[in-house]
Amino acid sequence: MRKLRVGIMGCTGLVGQQFIKMLSNHPYFEISCLTASSNSEGKKYNEVVNWMLKGEIPNIVKNLIIEKTSIETFIKNNIKIVFSALPSSVAKDIEIELRNNGLYIFSNASAHRMNEEIPIIIPEINPEHFELAEKQKNKYGGFVITNSNCTTSGFVMALKPILNLKLKSAIITTYQSISGAGRKGIPAMSIFGNVIPYIKDEEEKIERETKKILGQLVNGKIKEKEIEVIANCARVPVPFGHLECITLEFEREINESLFIKNLINFKGEPQKLRLPSAPERPIILINEKDRPQPIFDIHTEKGMAVVIGRIRRKNNKISFFLHVNNLVRGAAGTSVLNAEYALKKEIIEN
Ligand SMILES: NC(=O)c1ccc[n+]([C@@H]2O[C@H](COP(=O)([O-])OP(=O)(O)OC[C@H]3O[C@@H](n4cnc5c(N)ncnc54)[C@H](OP(=O)(O)O)[C@@H]3O)[C@@H](O)[C@H]2O)c1
Repeated sequence: MRKLRVGIMGCTGLVGQQFIKMLSNHPYFEISCLTASSNSEGKKYNEVVNWMLKGEIPNIVKNLIIEKTSIETFIKNNIKIVFSALPSSVAKDIEIELRNNGLYIFSNASAHRMNEEIPIIIPEINPEHFELAEKQKNKYGGFVITNSNCTTSGFVMALKPILNLKLKSAIITTYQSISGAGRKGIPAMSIFGNVIPYIKDEEEKIERETKKILGQLVNGKIKEKEIEVIANCARVPVPFGHLECITLEFEREINESLFIKNLINFKGEPQKLRLPSAPERPIILINEKDRPQPIFDIHTEKGMAVVIGRIRRKNNKISFFLHVNNLVRGAAGTSVLNAEYALKKEIIEN
């Protein structure tokens, strides 16, 4: 198979670095263009990046010159597929401009997540929402596909397999790592030895993105899932990985072993299609009494699986802890999986 040339916008940031790691030796895609802000433009990648991930900067990008984030850059480089790790304020206009010029954008930014023409896709959960990508393609030539906020991607992974057990409401309380705030993070004086019970807009994002992702397509539009979601988010002094404590309420008393069986057996389209970045199982259950923990569980299935433990039932409620790798499953990994799915399903041309 001929590898497709791809670009990465926001290549020096944490999500951009994770894209580079996942795409530097990818069977379908070849990194052919990197862009960032005017501060980095014209410089070699390894001269400007503050590499924060495990392992070396991949050789393939070390000497690549960072280019301007613009439509001209991608046209000149003959690139149709672009992965976006831009701040939302920057993504807002450029992603739409690229789409309207026939490019395919896989974005991590929140700017367009709630736009009704643009889906938020996690391919294990709602691959049918790719229909909205086809609709955009017909109308604009290209498309923007987003993936969810990092916390939401773990949360919905746990909800999807048990929705049919008559789920009524969900309360999620998070312990989110510093890397979730990007490369510049949080000032050490604010977070060291501390917990901050506020992350701007995060609770609202979890509540509305969950309903959109779990929604059904009706006459070409997403009808949001009716479910009560209450989110409480806190930043904790942990570098990578988000922990979530989730309590689910069902319409009637819940059978714990059925609940566990549904989680363990859950697989989606990426597993059936054996996509290169698909984990063998997207949900891993762990029995140790004090897990999951970010330091032990962050690399499970190369960061593509969520890890669930400490399941407890009381009448019609079930509580558990879940760990999600915010940069992989919560960001770049799901974008790459979306692109693999789109290619395999011929939503993007080879
Ligand atoms: N971190 C996470 O866990 C996570 C998870 C899910 C989604 N997201 C979302 O993913 C996006 C990237 O997050 P991040 O954590 O990687 O952020 P980050 O570490 O702050 O990186 C931001 C990137 O955007 C570039 N950039 C900044 N201003 C620009 C401009 N005016 N024009 C072009 N490029 C510009 C930066 O380039 P320079 O180096 O040149 O400044 C850098 O490459 C954000 O929208 C974020 O909300 C993040």
